[in-house]
Amino acid sequence: KQFLRPSTVNNLTKLVRNFSVTGQNNYKVAVLGASGGIGQPMSLLLKQTPAIKQLALYDIAHTPGVAADLSHIDTAAQVSGHIGAEQLGDCLTGSDVVVIPAGVPRKPGMTRDDLFNTNASIVADLSKACAKYCPTAFICIISNPVNSTVPICCEIYKKSGVSDTSKIFGVTTLDVVRSNAFIAEAKGFDVSKVNVPVIGGHAGITIIPVISQCSPSCSFEQPALEAITERIQDAGTEVVKAKAGAGSATLSMAYAGARFAASALDALSGKDNVVECAFIQSSITAATYFSTPLLLGPNGVKKNFGLGNLSDYEKKLVDACVPELQKSIKKGEEFAANFH
Ligand code: NAD
Ligand code: LMR
Repeated sequence: KQFLRPSTVNNLTKLVRNFSVTGQNNYKVAVLGASGGIGQPMSLLLKQTPAIKQLALYDIAHTPGVAADLSHIDTAAQVSGHIGAEQLGDCLTGSDVVVIPAGVPRKPGMTRDDLFNTNASIVADLSKACAKYCPTAFICIISNPVNSTVPICCEIYKKSGVSDTSKIFGVTTLDVVRSNAFIAEAKGFDVSKVNVPVIGGHAGITIIPVISQCSPSCSFEQPALEAITERIQDAGTEVVKAKAGAGSATLSMAYAGARFAASALDALSGKDNVVECAFIQSSITAATYFSTPLLLGPNGVKKNFGLGNLSDYEKKLVDACVPELQKSIKKGEEFAANFH
């Protein structure tokens, strides 16, 4: 009900945990892949984020319709639709934050890496445009396989002459959101108070929920701990199977993507204590990209909180994750090296 007719825009955003409630209202956010299963509901959430003055929607199809539809909502963000490569520059110019859910999703039986052949070049093309038109923007990459698309984006930036890649993030917020939901359910916690850091990457065994650092603290017998960890690692596949050929997670990802974008805006506006986990270039482990909790500031990562104290079980999960991540990172970097 509140969603249909909020008394104030701020009340509306407070419905969504951790979404931006900063007083500033002057940011431009671009969504690349805005007409898709994630792009549309995420743009709907962003249209309700008070910090956004302009919401620029780009896709290779349907953006005029999506933009016209969203522009009738009585919230402040001005919506523009951009279609086709020749309109990408206008979409990106002046953007403070770019969120990228462009690319194909999984069908049952596929791994995220099976998307590489299609999505690598989509992300490379879009990264090249971001490096050209908005090189200092926060870039939030949702397109899979995240463990490879983030290294692709960073390498394309470097090839384009942009050496600062500290605002390029792989969005792993959905893993945190799922962990919070599953643990709250298992323990009977108020889900709005639960926070579980998730480290590593975004595929199978590279997803590591650090349940020993859950707030509020909780513990499981080892078999139950392993079961809930594996459910979190396989949660994307759980949705792919349930959708039975109609794609992968879209609505929960839209929520998670809008939450991460709102955190980026909060960081840009100088808000304190903006902490999110994300997959970034990192020296925390032997994998050159790794997700850990990050303190975000106007220039990107202000502080990397690292691994913190891990249980023996979590240490073993990190040991298994690192070589897997290294393979995906190398694949992305090699692709970018040969991309023109
Ligand atoms: P979708 O097919 O519904 O939408 C993708 C959109 O991208 C389409 O509108 C398509 O036209 C557009 N697109 C394709 N090529 C493009 C290009 N070159 N430029 C701009 N837009 C382009 O897919 P979806 O369900 O929205 O999923 C999108 C991606 O997000 C997939 O790769 C999926 O695996 C990934 N995903 C990631 C997470 C995560 O946690 N990081 C979660 C869910 C899905
Ligand atoms: C997810 O975790 O839901 C996404 O990465 C989509 C997928 O393919 O599982």
